[in-house]
Amino acid sequence: MMHSIETRIAHRRFPCIHFVTVSETSSEPAKNPERLEVEELTALQPGLARFMPEIGARFWKCYYAAEAGNWPLARWQLSELRKLMRMCMVTRPKYIADLQEWIADDLEPIMQAIEARDVERFRRLYHESVDAANEFHRRWKKAFIVWKLPDAPPPDLDLTPRD
Ligand code: HEM
Repeated sequence: MMHSIETRIAHRRFPCIHFVTVSETSSEPAKNPERLEVEELTALQPGLARFMPEIGARFWKCYYAAEAGNWPLARWQLSELRKLMRMCMVTRPKYIADLQEWIADDLEPIMQAIEARDVERFRRLYHESVDAANEFHRRWKKAFIVWKLPDAPPPDLDLTPRD
């Protein structure tokens, strides 16, 4: 069957993708696809450039929650951060070993300090883990990415302890 010119151009640019978004009976591209092929869904999955800003926001909230003595919130933020890193491992397996290393050597000890409600230990481990994260950025040739803890608490959460 003859495809529209748009479909043929798209096929040249993305040969691995089967364009089910184009109606088989019309030469017009469908306005909204009814379904996507698995290759298209795979190409849409977020990588670290998408997950890392979210990871940074969770880590920021974790710090100020602990400073405010809201330990359940600090635990929640860190556990959501761990889930995000596991999603990174699914979509970008080349980072699995390094992400697992940071989780084991940095995140888990911080989690223990949270469970112990030990703010001094929490602070020390937290700052060490930021250095470790930036070391991974250097390792992956992204030395220009240096994450730092924002000076102020997140404005969108009331950090008052509730327990
Ligand atoms: C809490 C710990 C971490 C924080 C707060 C953090 C934060 C960030 C931020 C803000 C970015 C820039 C995203 C952007 O705007 O494009 C980034 C990128 C990146 N991070 Fe992290 N990071 C952390 C841990 C790690 C670890 C453990 C690794 C190990 C693999 C890692 C690997 C990367 C890579 C490879 C990029 C570049 C992604 C890309 O552009 O493809 N990060 N990170």
